[in-house]
Amino acid sequence: MNRRRRIYEGKAKILYEGPEPGTLVQHFKDDATAFNNEKHDVIDGKGVLNNRISEFIFNKLNDIGIPTHFVKRLNMREQLIREVEIIPVEVIVRNIAAGTLSKRLGIDEGTALPRSIVEYCFKSDELGDPMVSEEHITAFGWASPQEIDEMTALALRINDFMSGLFLGIGIKLVDFKVEFGRLYENDLVRVVLADEISPDSCRLWDITTSEKLDKDRFRRDLGGLIEAYQEVARRLGILFENEERPEPSGPVLVKS
Ligand code: TYD
Repeated sequence: MNRRRRIYEGKAKILYEGPEPGTLVQHFKDDATAFNNEKHDVIDGKGVLNNRISEFIFNKLNDIGIPTHFVKRLNMREQLIREVEIIPVEVIVRNIAAGTLSKRLGIDEGTALPRSIVEYCFKSDELGDPMVSEEHITAFGWASPQEIDEMTALALRINDFMSGLFLGIGIKLVDFKVEFGRLYENDLVRVVLADEISPDSCRLWDITTSEKLDKDRFRRDLGGLIEAYQEVARRLGILFENEERPEPSGPVLVKS
């Protein structure tokens, strides 16, 4: 039974009213979608893993001074966040060619890019998140030129940090998508990182085998999505810390 007021339901998450004004509860569902909702499935345990992985990354980013909406994890599927006004622009950073960039420009997947490339998409499910330029963003008033600069600078700092973080655990950060929001504090407005960062929103390849450890396992029907997300969590050192530890299925040692 959930008697909290539901503010918004997206494809993979639900936002509920938070315990105090200015806060929300972000709930991670097990739903997986791709190709603008054409493909949909429920993958047991995905929400729990994404909640944990996103918490870990947001905490690390907070530690290095990236402002975020994250306050704390509440339970296996939920985190407390600060309410922000979402900027309707998805910021994508790419280090290695993959996905739509490979298709659009005819560059083989896996080709290292000459430098990190930033792209913007307009957040619109009806339109399938079309790629847009800074011109569109400012002309239609989705974000100001200053906000675009802030989002881009933050996205590049996030890329540098996460590239190193994942490299340290034998994973290549191929690309990722981030979203930002406006946080209103008294008379001030700040651009902060919002939404989530998880294998749903990143491409992560094993450094030696190039095995995909991200949502492409679902998009491309490769199977083993949960095992891949678990592997990312395990390498980050965040699996089975406490309540996620599965019930032992084999013989249990009874202490006398
Ligand atoms: P991209 O290759 O543009 O699209 P697709 O995921 O459809 O192949 O995606 C680049 C990265 O950004 C990839 O890691 C997935 C992520 N992304 C999202 O998480 N949500 C989105 O709406 C989009 C467009 C990308």
